Amino acid sequence: MSMLFVDVTQNGRVSIDSSITMDDFEECFSRLSDKPRPLNMNTDRQRSCDEKSLSELTMGLSPPPFFRNVDNPPRFMDHPDTGVHTPISPNGLETQPMVTEALDALRRSLVFFRGRPVGTIAAVDSSDENLNYDQVFVRDFVPSALVFLMKGEPEVVKNFLIKTLRLQSWEKKIDQFQLGEGVMPASFKVLHDPRRNTETLIADFGESAIGRVAPVDSGFWWIILLRAYTKSTGDTSLAEKPECQKGMRLILSLCLSEGFDTFPTLLCADGCSMIDRRMGVYGYPIEIQALFFMALRCALLLLKQDAEGKAFVERIAKRLHALSFHMRSYFWLDLKQLNDIYRYKTEEYSHTAVNKFNVMPDSLPEWVFDFMPKHGGYFLGNVGPSNMDFRWFCLGNCMAILSSLATPEQSTAIMDLIESRWEELVGEMPLKVCYPAIESHEWRIITGCDPKNTRWSYHNGGSWPVLLWLLTAACIKTGRPQVARRAIELAETRLSKDNWPEYYDGKLGRYIGKQARKFQTWSIAGYLVAKMMLEDPSHLGMVALEEDKQMKPVLKRSSSWTL
Ligand code: GLC
Repeated sequence: MSMLFVDVTQNGRVSIDSSITMDDFEECFSRLSDKPRPLNMNTDRQRSCDEKSLSELTMGLSPPPFFRNVDNPPRFMDHPDTGVHTPISPNGLETQPMVTEALDALRRSLVFFRGRPVGTIAAVDSSDENLNYDQVFVRDFVPSALVFLMKGEPEVVKNFLIKTLRLQSWEKKIDQFQLGEGVMPASFKVLHDPRRNTETLIADFGESAIGRVAPVDSGFWWIILLRAYTKSTGDTSLAEKPECQKGMRLILSLCLSEGFDTFPTLLCADGCSMIDRRMGVYGYPIEIQALFFMALRCALLLLKQDAEGKAFVERIAKRLHALSFHMRSYFWLDLKQLNDIYRYKTEEYSHTAVNKFNVMPDSLPEWVFDFMPKHGGYFLGNVGPSNMDFRWFCLGNCMAILSSLATPEQSTAIMDLIESRWEELVGEMPLKVCYPAIESHEWRIITGCDPKNTRWSYHNGGSWPVLLWLLTAACIKTGRPQVARRAIELAETRLSKDNWPEYYDGKLGRYIGKQARKFQTWSIAGYLVAKMMLEDPSHLGMVALEEDKQMKPVLKRSSSWTL
């Protein structure tokens, strides 16, 4: 994960230096209050944000039938989402030593720019080479942001959203090639110049990252976080700002553009998300598809219906429809589907083909036959021409539950599989980033002999405590908080003692990762989110969306609204 910093000024690239004043933004947002709104206002706004159904947003389009799931019972049976988020009280949780320790560590990871908190550093570990762990990563900041939102301290989240939006507007170049306008940075850093007493931001859009891959997930996380902020604070004014609306549209332009695609899934380079190294996750990786789906749904809630927004809303609705059909049909694997693939004929031509992607049954890995439980299923890692990646990926499957990309039945099945394959996926430390590891010849070919991604280490079957928050949220959404509790208890036996490692190695996740950083912020924040969400499950609403049950034509829609 080592990377070079590009000194943007030296290379003639645009540095925001003095032009960035939080300042411009502060002007714009000066009326924005950080304080939680009065309760009634809060609830009203949250309700309007939640209840705005796809139908309301897309009147005039033919209604996608999959959203018409009116018969589905609400999934928050145990813990109805009241929409009222009270800041965490010092009852129980904050008196627990491990929680207090984690909160302190999280505060120590805060990064300030010109006196204001703008994010959290990836790891506060002075014992190891910094590489880029001294930066604020967009994806890493998400669990930190959730903690601050749950604690009723949204300022850093607002600053982060504004700051990264400013970074988006930089000119982004790799050699002679200019990246898309909407690309969000993977990470940024504050540079202090003690001599001139100035602070400058530098960002990495992939031009410094190992492998030079742009982070496709950053833009999606940004939209998802903007919605979490709006939902949690009830403050719609940030998302409504023209700058935020434009930022969203730029991100959406990148992923909704027409091209040569025959599938509604998003085509990606290897290593463009959490797994940011070559790991055979190019093509149509589940992590990106699930984040894409979630971001599209969040954008639908946040976009204004002005002239510019409207066009996007319609494109999003069509894409969501096609994407969910594709994912639910072709990425889904359970015992029956596995058996069907096992018996596939190949070389079929025309519309009547059953084996549409021409997958060779001989390419099915041995392990998957034992791994597949009788009850349960999951979304495949990747599906493309003659290619099915059967590996189970945690983030994509949990996000599929949270975004309702998975049907309620599929969500149940994903949880069933996690429970029946507990030893493989959770073992002694939650949670495997993917399962199983690739080894030997396959490892050589797929990773390019990457010594950091040897079997059962790091991205190759390593266990990442940060994933605990996603598991917990998925557990709460599917009504299985006890499963999350079990995982959290496991993490509690070691995380603090081991100084909050970035990841664990081994089949059971028993060993602190070979090159794992200590005091890795998202390990700390992931644990806190899990604890706080379990304590007050109404927080789930920040990161989860119900299946749109109200998909019916509506008679009227106004040209703009407030969330
Ligand atoms: C590693 C992870 C990446 C994370 C970064 C900072 O590169 O693979 O997902 O964002 O570290 O923690």
